[in-house]
Amino acid sequence: MALQNNYDNETFFEGYQKLREREVNANNLFEIPARVALLPDLKGLRILDLGCGMGDDCMEYIRQGAKSVVGVDISEKMLEAAKEKNSDPNITYIRMPMEDIYKLEGEFDLVVSSLAIHYVEDYKGVLKNVNRLLVKGGVFVFSQEHPVNSSYGGGERWLKDENGIKTYSLLSNYGIEGERESTWFVDNVKKYHRMFSTVINDLIDAGFSIEKLSEPVATEEIVEKYPDYYDLYHRPDFLLVKARKI
Ligand SMILES: C[S@@+](CC[C@H](N)C(=O)[O-])C[C@H]1O[C@@H](n2cnc3c(N)ncnc32)[C@H](O)[C@@H]1O
Repeated sequence: MALQNNYDNETFFEGYQKLREREVNANNLFEIPARVALLPDLKGLRILDLGCGMGDDCMEYIRQGAKSVVGVDISEKMLEAAKEKNSDPNITYIRMPMEDIYKLEGEFDLVVSSLAIHYVEDYKGVLKNVNRLLVKGGVFVFSQEHPVNSSYGGGERWLKDENGIKTYSLLSNYGIEGERESTWFVDNVKKYHRMFSTVINDLIDAGFSIEKLSEPVATEEIVEKYPDYYDLYHRPDFLLVKARKI
């Protein structure tokens, strides 16, 4: 079965690039700080970044003292941007779906993946290979759409009061796992919903212990500046996991 690769669609890529160029976006305000808080000291580490995109994180890991970074991504366009913006002798970019990382050789002290794993249907398969590629005691840190977010499959997302203020986040079909289609820059973007328990239990079954979880919400200062992010108190956008190979 052909894997989905939206980031090579011109319209999608341009929309995504513009979003990431904005100083104020959910990545910069929430996902990146929450992920950085889960990372170990990077000095001397051999790192694998799954779904590395435009390579900003790969470069940051090198700046923080990592020995080497391998960035894997399915998208040619994202990797072109990565090579242009974030090249370094200690970074290797490989065009490959993360479903194929069983083809990689070598071992890693840390595997990181930010906001890419919800595009993968075979989560268990990826976990098995991440586990194999890590040294014993190695760390896997990843972020994904939060399960209360990835469950969305159409219809109203919010209940609002008479002033249009969001009062409740609506949840349906949370217990039905699998493919969801949505429109994000283009139609028919596929993501995969897994319940919170599946995200965690599959990690345990693949040979990891769970060290920390994070569901970032806005600080008071952020809500004061950008009131829309009050939404996160109703429903977190992201789930981040720090797991260790046992
Ligand atoms: C939201 S972007 C995140 C990029 C980067 N990790 C970051 O945080 O800046 C998701 C990335 O996952 C990549 N991706 C999607 N499905 C993938 C797959 N099956 N294997 C590898 N990469 C994938 C996309 O091409 C895209 O670069």
